[in-house]
Amino acid sequence: MKIRETTSSDLAHVLVLYPQAFPEEELRPVVSALLELGQGVLSLAGFQEDALVAHVLFTTCWTDGRDRPGALLGPLGVLPSYQRKGVGSSLVRTGLEQLKKNGVKQVFVLGDPGYYRCFGFSPERQVLSPYPLPAQWADAWQSTTLAARAPLAAGTLTLPEPWMQPALWSP
Ligand SMILES: CC(C)(COP(=O)(O)OP(=O)(O)OC[C@H]1O[C@@H](n2cnc3c(N)ncnc32)[C@H](O)[C@@H]1OP(=O)(O)O)[C@@H](O)C(=O)NCCC(=O)NCCS
Repeated sequence: MKIRETTSSDLAHVLVLYPQAFPEEELRPVVSALLELGQGVLSLAGFQEDALVAHVLFTTCWTDGRDRPGALLGPLGVLPSYQRKGVGSSLVRTGLEQLKKNGVKQVFVLGDPGYYRCFGFSPERQVLSPYPLPAQWADAWQSTTLAARAPLAAGTLTLPEPWMQPALWSP
Protein backbone atom coordinates (compact mmCIF):
# COMPACT_ATOMS: atom_id res chain seq x y z
CA MET A 1 0.00 0.00 0.00
CA LYS A 2 1.17 3.48 -0.84
CA ILE A 3 0.76 6.07 1.93
CA ARG A 4 1.02 9.82 1.41
CA GLU A 5 -0.35 13.11 2.70
CA THR A 6 -3.63 14.04 1.06
CA THR A 7 -4.13 17.01 -1.25
CA SER A 8 -7.31 18.92 -2.07
CA SER A 9 -7.89 16.58 -5.01
CA ASP A 10 -8.32 13.64 -2.57
CA LEU A 11 -11.12 15.32 -0.62
CA ALA A 12 -14.01 13.79 -2.58
CA HIS A 13 -12.59 10.29 -2.07
CA VAL A 14 -12.01 10.91 1.64
CA LEU A 15 -15.64 12.01 2.01
CA VAL A 16 -16.88 8.88 0.23
CA LEU A 17 -14.84 6.67 2.57
CA TYR A 18 -16.21 7.84 5.95
CA PRO A 19 -19.89 6.83 5.59
CA GLN A 20 -18.72 3.40 4.45
CA ALA A 21 -16.27 2.92 7.32
CA PHE A 22 -18.70 4.45 9.88
CA PRO A 23 -22.25 3.72 8.64
CA GLU A 24 -23.78 4.93 11.92
CA GLU A 25 -21.79 8.13 12.38
CA GLU A 26 -21.64 11.33 10.34
CA LEU A 27 -17.99 12.32 10.38
CA ARG A 28 -17.82 14.23 7.10
CA PRO A 29 -18.42 17.70 8.62
CA VAL A 30 -15.59 17.41 11.15
CA VAL A 31 -13.24 15.85 8.60
CA SER A 32 -13.96 18.62 6.07
CA ALA A 33 -13.55 21.36 8.66
CA LEU A 34 -10.22 19.92 9.85
CA LEU A 35 -8.92 19.59 6.29
CA GLU A 36 -9.94 23.20 5.62
CA LEU A 37 -7.83 24.30 8.60
CA GLY A 38 -4.77 22.95 6.80
CA GLN A 39 -2.35 24.08 9.50
CA GLY A 40 -1.85 21.78 12.45
CA VAL A 41 -3.43 18.80 10.73
CA LEU A 42 -1.63 15.76 9.35
CA SER A 43 -3.88 13.98 6.84
CA LEU A 44 -2.61 10.64 5.53
CA ALA A 45 -4.27 8.29 3.10
CA GLY A 46 -3.53 4.75 1.99
CA PHE A 47 -3.87 3.84 -1.69
CA GLN A 48 -4.22 0.49 -3.42
CA GLU A 49 -3.64 0.79 -7.16
CA ASP A 50 -4.32 4.54 -6.96
CA ALA A 51 -7.66 4.06 -5.15
CA LEU A 52 -7.98 5.73 -1.74
CA VAL A 53 -8.87 2.92 0.70
CA ALA A 54 -7.98 4.37 4.12
CA HIS A 55 -7.59 7.75 5.80
CA VAL A 56 -6.44 9.14 9.14
CA LEU A 57 -6.19 12.61 10.64
CA PHE A 58 -3.88 13.84 13.38
CA THR A 59 -4.70 17.26 14.87
CA THR A 60 -2.20 19.34 16.85
CA CYS A 61 -3.30 19.93 20.46
CA TRP A 62 -1.95 21.35 23.72
CA THR A 63 -2.46 21.57 27.42
CA ASP A 64 0.16 24.34 27.73
CA GLY A 65 0.55 26.47 24.59
CA ARG A 66 4.19 27.33 25.37
CA ASP A 67 5.23 23.69 25.28
CA ARG A 68 5.82 21.35 22.33
CA PRO A 69 2.48 20.04 21.14
CA GLY A 70 0.62 16.78 21.20
CA ALA A 71 -1.61 15.34 18.49
CA LEU A 72 -5.07 13.80 18.52
CA LEU A 73 -5.46 10.72 16.29
CA GLY A 74 -8.83 10.51 14.60
CA PRO A 75 -10.85 9.73 12.79
CA LEU A 76 -9.29 6.64 11.25
CA GLY A 77 -11.28 4.76 8.63
CA VAL A 78 -10.64 1.89 6.26
CA LEU A 79 -13.02 0.85 3.46
CA PRO A 80 -14.85 -2.33 4.62
CA SER A 81 -13.38 -4.56 1.92
CA TYR A 82 -9.84 -3.55 2.98
CA GLN A 83 -10.34 -3.95 6.74
CA ARG A 84 -8.26 -6.43 8.80
CA LYS A 85 -5.47 -6.54 6.23
CA GLY A 86 -3.01 -4.31 8.10
CA VAL A 87 -4.03 -1.12 6.28
CA GLY A 88 -5.16 0.81 9.39
CA SER A 89 -2.05 -0.27 11.30
CA SER A 90 0.25 0.94 8.50
CA LEU A 91 -1.44 4.34 8.49
CA VAL A 92 -1.20 4.70 12.28
CA ARG A 93 2.48 3.67 12.35
CA THR A 94 3.38 6.00 9.48
CA GLY A 95 1.59 8.87 11.21
CA LEU A 96 3.31 8.25 14.54
CA GLU A 97 6.74 8.19 12.86
CA GLN A 98 6.06 11.44 11.05
CA LEU A 99 4.77 13.14 14.21
CA LYS A 100 7.86 12.01 16.10
CA LYS A 101 10.06 13.63 13.45
CA ASN A 102 7.96 16.80 13.75
CA GLY A 103 8.69 16.99 17.50
CA VAL A 104 5.26 15.95 18.75
CA LYS A 105 5.51 14.66 22.33
CA GLN A 106 2.37 12.67 22.90
CA VAL A 107 -0.49 11.33 20.79
CA PHE A 108 -4.05 10.94 22.11
CA VAL A 109 -6.91 8.82 20.81
CA LEU A 110 -10.48 8.01 21.80
CA GLY A 111 -10.90 4.49 20.48
CA ASP A 112 -10.94 0.75 21.06
CA PRO A 113 -8.15 -0.07 23.55
CA GLY A 114 -7.93 -3.57 22.04
CA TYR A 115 -6.85 -2.01 18.76
CA TYR A 116 -4.66 0.89 19.92
CA ARG A 117 -2.73 -1.06 22.58
CA CYS A 118 -0.52 -2.62 19.89
CA PHE A 119 0.77 0.83 18.88
CA GLY A 120 1.81 1.60 22.48
CA PHE A 121 -1.34 3.44 23.61
CA SER A 122 -2.60 3.04 27.18
CA PRO A 123 -5.39 4.72 29.17
CA GLU A 124 -4.65 8.41 29.80
CA ARG A 125 -5.51 9.93 33.18
CA GLN A 126 -3.43 13.15 33.44
CA VAL A 127 -4.58 14.89 30.27
CA LEU A 128 -8.35 15.16 30.01
CA SER A 129 -10.40 15.14 26.84
CA PRO A 130 -12.00 18.51 25.95
CA TYR A 131 -15.39 17.31 27.20
CA PRO A 132 -16.05 14.84 30.03
CA LEU A 133 -16.40 11.28 28.78
CA PRO A 134 -18.96 8.73 30.00
CA ALA A 135 -17.59 6.30 32.59
CA GLN A 136 -17.73 3.36 30.17
CA TRP A 137 -15.26 5.19 27.89
CA ALA A 138 -12.64 5.82 30.61
CA ASP A 139 -10.20 3.30 29.12
CA ALA A 140 -10.95 4.35 25.55
CA TRP A 141 -9.25 7.71 26.18
CA GLN A 142 -5.62 6.79 25.58
CA SER A 143 -2.23 8.21 24.77
CA THR A 144 1.29 7.23 23.83
CA THR A 145 4.45 9.28 24.25
CA LEU A 146 6.81 9.48 21.32
CA ALA A 147 10.47 8.58 21.94
CA ALA A 148 11.81 9.59 25.32
CA ARG A 149 9.87 12.83 25.38
CA ALA A 150 8.05 13.81 28.56
CA PRO A 151 4.27 13.84 28.25
CA LEU A 152 2.20 17.00 28.02
CA ALA A 153 1.51 18.85 31.26
CA ALA A 154 -1.57 17.60 33.10
CA GLY A 155 -4.73 19.50 32.19
CA THR A 156 -7.57 19.63 29.70
CA LEU A 157 -6.66 19.26 26.06
CA THR A 158 -7.04 22.32 23.83
CA LEU A 159 -8.05 21.49 20.27
CA PRO A 160 -9.05 23.57 17.25
CA GLU A 161 -12.69 24.56 16.88
CA PRO A 162 -13.88 21.65 14.66
CA TRP A 163 -13.26 19.28 17.58
CA MET A 164 -15.14 21.47 20.08
CA GLN A 165 -18.51 19.79 19.69
CA PRO A 166 -19.81 17.71 22.63
CA ALA A 167 -21.49 15.28 20.22
CA LEU A 168 -18.06 14.14 18.99
CA TRP A 169 -17.18 13.10 22.54
CA SER A 170 -20.30 11.22 23.55
CA PRO A 171 -21.85 7.88 22.53
C1 LIG B 1 -10.83 -0.06 13.09
C2 LIG B 1 -10.08 0.06 11.77
C3 LIG B 1 -9.57 1.47 11.57
C4 LIG B 1 -8.86 -0.90 11.84
O1 LIG B 1 -8.16 -0.87 10.62
P1 LIG B 1 -7.86 -2.25 9.87
O2 LIG B 1 -7.03 -1.95 8.68
O3 LIG B 1 -9.16 -2.94 9.64
O4 LIG B 1 -7.06 -3.03 11.00
P2 LIG B 1 -5.67 -3.78 10.88
O5 LIG B 1 -5.74 -4.78 9.77
O6 LIG B 1 -4.60 -2.79 10.84
O7 LIG B 1 -5.63 -4.52 12.28
C5 LIG B 1 -6.60 -5.49 12.53
C6 LIG B 1 -6.25 -6.21 13.79
O8 LIG B 1 -6.47 -5.35 14.89
C7 LIG B 1 -7.15 -6.05 15.92
N1 LIG B 1 -8.32 -5.31 16.34
C8 LIG B 1 -8.64 -5.06 17.62
N2 LIG B 1 -9.71 -4.31 17.68
C9 LIG B 1 -10.14 -4.07 16.42
C10 LIG B 1 -11.23 -3.34 15.87
N3 LIG B 1 -12.10 -2.66 16.64
N4 LIG B 1 -11.36 -3.31 14.54
C11 LIG B 1 -10.47 -3.95 13.75
N5 LIG B 1 -9.43 -4.65 14.23
C12 LIG B 1 -9.25 -4.70 15.56
C13 LIG B 1 -7.48 -7.40 15.41
O9 LIG B 1 -6.62 -8.25 16.11
C14 LIG B 1 -7.14 -7.39 13.97
O10 LIG B 1 -6.41 -8.53 13.65
P3 LIG B 1 -7.18 -9.88 13.18
O11 LIG B 1 -7.89 -9.54 11.90
O12 LIG B 1 -6.05 -10.84 13.01
O13 LIG B 1 -8.10 -10.27 14.29
C15 LIG B 1 -10.96 -0.37 10.57
O14 LIG B 1 -11.35 -1.71 10.73
C16 LIG B 1 -12.18 0.52 10.38
O15 LIG B 1 -12.12 1.50 9.66
N6 LIG B 1 -13.28 0.14 11.01
C17 LIG B 1 -14.52 0.90 10.91
C18 LIG B 1 -14.37 2.26 11.48
C19 LIG B 1 -13.91 2.24 12.91
O16 LIG B 1 -14.46 1.53 13.75
N7 LIG B 1 -12.89 3.03 13.22
C20 LIG B 1 -12.44 3.12 14.56
C21 LIG B 1 -11.27 3.99 14.71
S1 LIG B 1 -11.21 4.43 16.44
